[in-house]
Amino acid sequence: MIVQEQLPMVAMPSMNDTHLEDVILINQLSAAAASKNFAATKIFLEELVEHTIAHFSGEEAMMQEHNFPPYAIHKAEHDRVLKELSNITRIFSEGEGDFSLVTSYVDGSLIPWLLNHIETLDTVTAMFLVNATKS
Ligand SMILES: [Fe+2]
Ligand SMILES: [Fe+2]
Repeated sequence: MIVQEQLPMVAMPSMNDTHLEDVILINQLSAAAASKNFAATKIFLEELVEHTIAHFSGEEAMMQEHNFPPYAIHKAEHDRVLKELSNITRIFSEGEGDFSLVTSYVDGSLIPWLLNHIETLDTVTAMFLVNATKS
C-alpha cells in the first residue's frame, strides 16, 4: 500500500501521471492480495506488468530521443525490475494462491524500489528532459 503523498514528484508532469497510475494499480493489487482474491490478484498483476512495460518504454524512448548519457544505467534498472515483476506474476498465476508471495514482494521490494527509483534516477532524468526540450 502506498499513500499518494509518499510519491515523489519529478519535473515532468507526464511522468508524474504515469507514476500515479502505478500507485493506484499497486494499491488495487495489494487490496486484492490482502483479501485473498485469486482472480483479482492475477488480473491486477497482469495489468501492472502491462502498465510497467508502457511506463518504462515511455521513459526509455524520451531518454533515447534526447541522448540522456546514463541511459544504459536507467534502462538496466527497468529491465531488472520488469523481469522480477513478470516472474512473480508467472509464479503466482501458475500456483494455487500464494498471496504472501505477492504481498511480501510488493511491500518488501516493489514499493521501496519504486519510491527510491523515482526519487533518484527518474528525478534526474526528468530534470534533464525538461532542460533538453526547453533549448
Ligand atoms: Fe518512472
Ligand atoms: Fe524510470
